Amino acid sequence: MSNTIIVGLQWGDEGKGKIVDYLTEGSEVVARAAGGSNAGHTVINGGQKYILHLIPSGILWPDKLCVIGNGVVIDPLGLLEEMATLRGQGVVITPQNLLISENAHLTLDYHKMLDRAREARRGENAIGTTGRGIGPTYADKIERQGLRVTDLRDPSKLAHEVEWRAALHNQELALAGYGPVNVPEIVAQITDAAEKLRPHIANTVVVLNEALKAGKRVLFEGAQGSYLDIDHGTYPFVTSSNTTAGGACTGSGVSPRRIERVIGVCKAYTTRVGAGPFVTENDDIGDLLHGMGREFGATTGRARRCGWLDAVLLRYAVMVNGCDEIAITNLDGLDSLETLKICTHYELDGSIIAYPPPTVEEIARCKPVHEEHQGWQQDLSGITCYADLPARAKAYLDRIAELAGARVSLVGIGPARAQTLVA
Ligand code: GDP
Ligand code: IMO
Ligand code: MG
Repeated sequence: MSNTIIVGLQWGDEGKGKIVDYLTEGSEVVARAAGGSNAGHTVINGGQKYILHLIPSGILWPDKLCVIGNGVVIDPLGLLEEMATLRGQGVVITPQNLLISENAHLTLDYHKMLDRAREARRGENAIGTTGRGIGPTYADKIERQGLRVTDLRDPSKLAHEVEWRAALHNQELALAGYGPVNVPEIVAQITDAAEKLRPHIANTVVVLNEALKAGKRVLFEGAQGSYLDIDHGTYPFVTSSNTTAGGACTGSGVSPRRIERVIGVCKAYTTRVGAGPFVTENDDIGDLLHGMGREFGATTGRARRCGWLDAVLLRYAVMVNGCDEIAITNLDGLDSLETLKICTHYELDGSIIAYPPPTVEEIARCKPVHEEHQGWQQDLSGITCYADLPARAKAYLDRIAELAGARVSLVGIGPARAQTLVA
C-alpha cells in the first residue's frame, strides 16, 4: 500500500467504510479529513456490524493510529457516544490510537437547531440534510466565528465563548420559531465532554507528517461523495465540505505531493439520500433493493433513492479526483436482473453530453442515454476470486472501467470484509 485517498464517486454511501476497512491492513494510519457525523460508514466483520460516523474505520484494526483531521466538524457529544458504542462492541479506543485535531471545528447543539430551522425555511426546496448541524458548523467556520477543539482546553473561557455565539444565532432561531439556545446546558455538556476528549487532542498535522517522514503509510477515509462536494456537487443539494480528493489534503495538513494513489469507490448502481436531481433514478431498482432489505441510510435510516449506474457522473468524478483506480461495491445487488442498464451519456435539450452540466435545473432536464447489458443471474456472494466471476459480470465491470476512465481494482460482492475481490 501507499499513501492513498479513498473517495466516494457518487452521492455518498458507496461502501467507503468497507473498502477502507479492507485496505487498512496495509497502512499504519487512517485519517478522516472532512465531513462530520453526517457520515455513516458500515463495516461488517467477524459477524459484527459497526457503524462509524466520526471515527475512522481503521479503529477496528488494533495497532492502527486513527486521526480525525482539522477539516472534520466534530460533535463532541456524538463522538463520545460513538466511542461508547464501539467500546461496547469490544473495540479498544485510547489516546494512543485515536487523535483529534486541535483545529477541527465543533458542532454544538445550536448548529443542529439551525440546521432544522434552515431546512424548514427552505420548505419544498429543503436539501434533506442529515440534521447533524453540518452546514451551520461549516458556515460558522467560514464566517470565522466557529469554536474549535482547542477551545475545549480551557473550560473557564467556554461560557463566554458560547454566550456571544448563541446571542448571534438566537436572532435567526427566534425568527424561525426556535430557541433560544440554552447556554448553561451547552456549556455543561461540552465541559464534561472536554474532560473526556482532552487526552485525544493533538496537533494532528505534525503527527501525520512525522508519521509520513518515518515511512508510515496513511489511508485517507473519504466521507460523503463527489456529488455532495460543495464545489463540484449538485449544488445546492450538497453537503458543506470538499468531499473530493483535494479535501483530504486541506482537511489533514498533508501536502498533495505526499499522496500516491487515489481510489474512487462507487456502487454497481447509483443511490442518493436527500433531495436533488438524479438522472438515472429508477423505482423498479429501488423496489428490488429495498425488498432485499438494502439501501437504507446508515445515519438516518432513510430509504435511499436508487437508479442505474451513471457513467456520466463517474467519468467526471474520476477526472476531478484523479482516480487511478475504482472499487466497485454491491455488484451482488444486481444478481437477479435479466438486463442491466448503464447510462453512458446525457441528452440535454437535444444535445448528447458526456459530463454533467453545472446547474441542477439543467441536470433535471437531462435524459439518460442507456446501453443494455445482459445480467449474470447468479448469486455472486460466495465467490472468492475475481477470475471466478461470471463472464457477464466481468464484461459489466470492464465496460464501467472503460466509460469511467480508470481501472477496476476491487469488487464487492457482499458486505463482509472477506467479500472483496481483487481484480
Ligand atoms: P459508506 O458511507 O460509503 O461507507 O457506505 P454505507 O456504509 O453508508 O453504505 C454502504 C452499504 O453497502 C452498507 O450497508 C454496507 O454494508 C454495504 N456494502 C458495501 N459493500 C457491499 C457489497 O459489495 N455488497 C453488499 N451486499 N453490501 C455492501
Ligand atoms: P457517507 O460518508 C449519503 C447528504 C444528505 C443531504 C446532503 C446534505 O456515509 O457517504 P448534510 O447533513 O451533510 O448537510 O446533508 O448530503 N449526505 C449524505 N448522503 N452519505 C453521506 O455520508 C452523507 N452525508 C451527507 O442526505 O442530501
Ligand atoms: Mg454512508
